[in-house]
Amino acid sequence: MSATGLQLDQAPPLSVPLRFFLTAPLFGVLAAVLLFWHGPTGLASRWTPTMLAFTHLLTLGFLTSAMLGALLQMLPVLAGAPVARPRLVSGVVHGLLTTGTLALVTGFLAPGTGAFPVALLLLGPGLALFVGVALECLWRAPIGDSTARTMGIALVGLAITVALGIGLGVGARTGAQSSWTGVHIGWGLLGWVAMLIGGVAWQVVPMFQLTPPYPAWLRRAYAPVLFFTLLGLSAALLLAPGRLAEKFFGAAIAAALALFAGITLLRQRQRRRRLPDVTLAFWRLAMTSLLAAVLLWLAGAAEIVRGERLAFLYGVLFLLGFAASAVHGMLYKIVPFLLWLHLQRKNIRGTLPNMKELLPDRRTRPHLWVHVAAIAAAVLACLVPAPFTYLAAALLLLSFGWLEWNLLAAVRRYRRLIRAHAHVA
Ligand code: HEM
Repeated sequence: MSATGLQLDQAPPLSVPLRFFLTAPLFGVLAAVLLFWHGPTGLASRWTPTMLAFTHLLTLGFLTSAMLGALLQMLPVLAGAPVARPRLVSGVVHGLLTTGTLALVTGFLAPGTGAFPVALLLLGPGLALFVGVALECLWRAPIGDSTARTMGIALVGLAITVALGIGLGVGARTGAQSSWTGVHIGWGLLGWVAMLIGGVAWQVVPMFQLTPPYPAWLRRAYAPVLFFTLLGLSAALLLAPGRLAEKFFGAAIAAALALFAGITLLRQRQRRRRLPDVTLAFWRLAMTSLLAAVLLWLAGAAEIVRGERLAFLYGVLFLLGFAASAVHGMLYKIVPFLLWLHLQRKNIRGTLPNMKELLPDRRTRPHLWVHVAAIAAAVLACLVPAPFTYLAAALLLLSFGWLEWNLLAAVRRYRRLIRAHAHVA
């Protein structure tokens, strides 16, 4: 075990997380192409087939792929309990998630083609297998810290989201959204995405950004508070929609998210190393966007701001501004770290490149600005779709394509080093 409290000797084979990390940005590319193809009409309402397909390309295709890869890597290392048969499990889950997401998107875009039931048959077992294996791994873990607990609760959030998604998919989709849709969205975005990013942050932010650790009370309380307030919100949405209880639980969730974002930003200001770091900038952008989404939600709930485009703005700030930026920051740190770790293990003679040489800042820094521009254009497209949708789609295409290109470049560098070593040995 290392000084960071990680059991690095338990890390799975490189291909296990990497297959998820390398396919995730491709779903972002597909989402951008879809938006470009359908143009401003796709943004006419939240429930157009384009929007539903776009949302799931981002939530399942990009975010969930990257997050499953991170969990497969981090669970054994953090908890000290390896996932059984990691290559087989990751191969099966990856295959089912990838094909299932493509089928779901086809189902939204072309109802009546039979793609929807196929999607449910692929995604249901694929994600159930993942949740089962990961929870079993956590159960066996000798070490149960706040990161592992938060991750366990996030997995329950994913299971609830998928069960509700399948329920919505099986039920007759008449175009009128029921309260169950709100519950599905709540568990997906908060119980799965925001919960897991919290769990990852407890570990990754202090370790890679050299900040002081998060306060113990936040690490202990974040996951249970979010989980139980989400339960309360779900009950309020289903039993007493539009009443005070909905606003009460909503405000409690907003407070938990604002504390998480605010404390992360404060911790980053207190970091020990003051050198500029692009992954830090991605995380800062993520936390600032989360704060902006929370403030906008509070203003909407208090009826200070109104309008049917508000939900689009929450979506862009949360999904692209917060979740996608945090995942970019995570990938740009974890991928070079893993490649470096596996190079170390191969006992290669001579000087090994460091993490920055595997993925230099000159490749990632310009990408940060393209990503910021893509978020800004997406915000504008929410407000005035006609001129800005194409700009947003083009910038998103460039941004996700850039991410894929940078990750592939780092992997190519790693492979070249291994080949050169095999040649010499
Ligand atoms: C097996 C996986 C999933 C299935 C089958 C599924 C299915 C669905 C369906 C059928 C709807 C439309 C509901 C309606 O028209 O009333 C929907 C909406 C939505 N789902 Fe999922 N879903 C899945 C996973 C997820 C995940 C993991 C997330 C988030 C991380 C998510 C986030 C959303 C969001 C945000 C919407 C609303 C879209 C919008 O406002 O445009 N879904 N989902």
